[in-house]
Amino acid sequence: MYTFYLLLFAWLAYVLSVTIRAIRTKVPGPWYTNLTSFVLKYFEFQGKRRVWIHKLHETYGPVVRLAPNEVAFANLEGMKEIYQSGGSGYDKTEFYNLFKQYGRRPMFALMNKNEHSQRRKLFAERYAMTNIMSSSIMHGIQQNAEKVVQKCLKSTGSYLDTYTVLHCYALDCASHALFNPAGTKSLDEKEDYVLMEDLSYDNRLRSRLVQHHWPALASIRYCFTPKPMMSLSHKFVLDRVSHSKTEDSSLLYKLRSKSENLEKVQMAAECMDHLAAGIDTTGDALCFLMYELSLPRSQEIQQCLRQEIMQNPGARLDDLPYMDAVIKEGLRLFPPIPMSLPRYVPREGRTISGYQLPGSSIVSCQAYSMHLMDDTVFPSPSKFIPERWLEKDGELERNRLFFAFAAGGRGCIGKNLALVEMKTLLRRIYGRFETEVALEMKSDMSIDDQIIASRPKDQKCLLTFREVTH
Ligand code: HEM
Repeated sequence: MYTFYLLLFAWLAYVLSVTIRAIRTKVPGPWYTNLTSFVLKYFEFQGKRRVWIHKLHETYGPVVRLAPNEVAFANLEGMKEIYQSGGSGYDKTEFYNLFKQYGRRPMFALMNKNEHSQRRKLFAERYAMTNIMSSSIMHGIQQNAEKVVQKCLKSTGSYLDTYTVLHCYALDCASHALFNPAGTKSLDEKEDYVLMEDLSYDNRLRSRLVQHHWPALASIRYCFTPKPMMSLSHKFVLDRVSHSKTEDSSLLYKLRSKSENLEKVQMAAECMDHLAAGIDTTGDALCFLMYELSLPRSQEIQQCLRQEIMQNPGARLDDLPYMDAVIKEGLRLFPPIPMSLPRYVPREGRTISGYQLPGSSIVSCQAYSMHLMDDTVFPSPSKFIPERWLEKDGELERNRLFFAFAAGGRGCIGKNLALVEMKTLLRRIYGRFETEVALEMKSDMSIDDQIIASRPKDQKCLLTFREVTH
């Protein structure tokens, strides 16, 4: 009994000290966030963390307390300090343990800064525009885009579920960049189509949150449940890493040739991570964007896009400014990774955006709020207005707040690949078809949060395609 009281006292003393520390920082927020992280966890388990944080920003401003040791920022000052100071910003938190693959840390989940920058250097050249635009990578992307066009053609008079087709496209393109010529062919082969399903229909949000917040509890549970079998996509990647012959331009070729120190399973962890990072992000970005373009309210925008594409048949991908603006606006309103990217305040503590935060506090920005909060930079922020990106006035401010690919040395390394995939496909589709939302489309397209990324809620998007006459 004595021990019980002692433990209770120690716990109360700890809660009190954390609360006093939180109150002293004077970060705005609801009173209970000074006392407990319970409400934050409640919204996380409901899949509503992003929306709750955004509402707090709307009420309390760009800096809000989420829990006694956690603060969210939705302003440029906060973003620059957290993600760009010293190049790669503050250290990632244990949240990223959830992204281990085969029990190993890929680059995305590396905590150690030196190790991360070494690994990033290894991949930088693979994801540079010159490598992405090389004939072998581009050829694969174009072939896949053509397969999508053929599916659109076949669907005329009826409709196409673009959610699945776009995720297959993203899988085939990303796996081509990783394993060329041994990538997937999910756009036309059933055997590979199931890999897309395996990667895109993951519904383990709650169990992964338990694993993150209460790892001991998760371990006990694993003792009493059969060990999960290796997923199809994990088997696929391990097989490719072990047996495939790859071309010089592929990521696996680089891994094999430059990293004598990396074991096979570590290479597989890296490839698996890049594959997972490249599918739902690009697939969902295209899906949200094509849905928006197909709505009655966006038909004029679609018309402008088609006009630009048709009038410039020989233009380079980067010389289509309206298409650029459409893509950026899509990523602004529907960022595929809209949620917080948590980082630790360095041990000595830091002043961020005027608030003095103690070391080891958790701080973050979420793209969703970064893109909606400041209506001086993005007037009518919740409206889809590609033209805003074409105005010279305010260009710098808009680009600085654009956080879809994050920022700094730990931002998205696959950005060039993703943009080239998106541009290649949109050019082919909107240069040839008019799209509308199908009458049969009853599915919910609202943003549904997963562990860090989001997806259309019902994972279905029925669109019609009508070929336009020249
Ligand atoms: C529209 C598409 C994409 C978006 C919006 C996107 C967004 C992001 C964001 C926000 C991060 C940082 C996350 C964090 O700090 O927690 C990130 C990191 C990363 N992304 Fe992407 N991504 C996209 C496509 C891709 C593609 C196609 C690939 C590769 C095939 C890729 C590979 C990666 C990798 C490896 C990282 C980790 C980088 C590091 O730790 O240094 N991404 N991405």
